[in-house]
Amino acid sequence: MKIDLTGTTALVTGSSRGIGRAIAEALGKAGAAVAVHCRERASQAAELSDQLGNDSAVFTADLQDPMQAVSLFRQVLDKYGRVDLLVNNAGIFEHSPLVKETPEWIADWERTIAVNLTGAGILCREAINHFIPAGGGRIINIASRAAFRGETADHLHYAASKGGLVSLSRSIARSFGNHNIKCFTIAPGFVRTEMIDHHLQGKGEEEILNELALSRLTTPGDIAPVAVLIAGGGMDHATGTTIDINGGSYMH
Ligand SMILES: NC(=O)c1ccc[n+]([C@@H]2O[C@H](COP(=O)([O-])OP(=O)(O)OC[C@H]3O[C@@H](n4cnc5c(N)ncnc54)[C@H](OP(=O)(O)O)[C@@H]3O)[C@@H](O)[C@H]2O)c1
Repeated sequence: MKIDLTGTTALVTGSSRGIGRAIAEALGKAGAAVAVHCRERASQAAELSDQLGNDSAVFTADLQDPMQAVSLFRQVLDKYGRVDLLVNNAGIFEHSPLVKETPEWIADWERTIAVNLTGAGILCREAINHFIPAGGGRIINIASRAAFRGETADHLHYAASKGGLVSLSRSIARSFGNHNIKCFTIAPGFVRTEMIDHHLQGKGEEEILNELALSRLTTPGDIAPVAVLIAGGGMDHATGTTIDINGGSYMH
């Protein structure tokens, strides 16, 4: 099956590196113009956008700030005149044990919810408001296995933010399917990126591998093809569902 995304535009948040970058590369290879978004690694994002071609360009926004999330979508729309696919991928995974001082723990909670959930929610709203008059569109929210299996005690905020993304996707799929808007969740397990560098130290990688049914750690390249399939419409009738990509470590 050949998927041709020529003439379409995709906004992929957090595509300067990791999973977002692999998704942007795959969408670009299929012909899409990609709005490559980053928070601060603009040179990495620019290198990717040059490599992609198709009029791809870099957009910078700190999604911890709600108004920057709003203006990100509007800037992309100003440049391309249309957005066909929104991929809410940007995220943070910070260590926040309960023993932290209360104000610090609350600040950690608020930062994680702001970036992982509120920023994504605002971008979904902007996208829906654009998709309705445009005749439709697609959204992918990158959640996590943690939304279903739960996370460790030091990452309660992270699991809560990802659980929120799952129900956000389902609600969008239910509420706006009649406007031809399709919304999906991808839930990765451990994926080899900078985000989990510290987990891979020492015996970390071996422990992760022991949890998997497959014999190698998932890479960003294992996630990207699903995003292309969704972008091309191949999964439209699965709208609202979650695609688990975790090496067979957890099924729900
Ligand atoms: N890796 C895993 O094991 C794993 C597992 C399950 C789910 N996920 C999810 O997959 C997504 C991508 O993860 P990854 O492993 O590829 O992460 P990563 O390598 O740490 O990359 C994170 C990306 O998010 C951007 N970002 C971080 N904070 C931001 C902020 N405040 N505002 C805007 N952008 C921000 C970064 O931009 P800069 O480069 O400019 O900093 C970067 O592009 C995340 O939502 C993550 O929760 C990852």
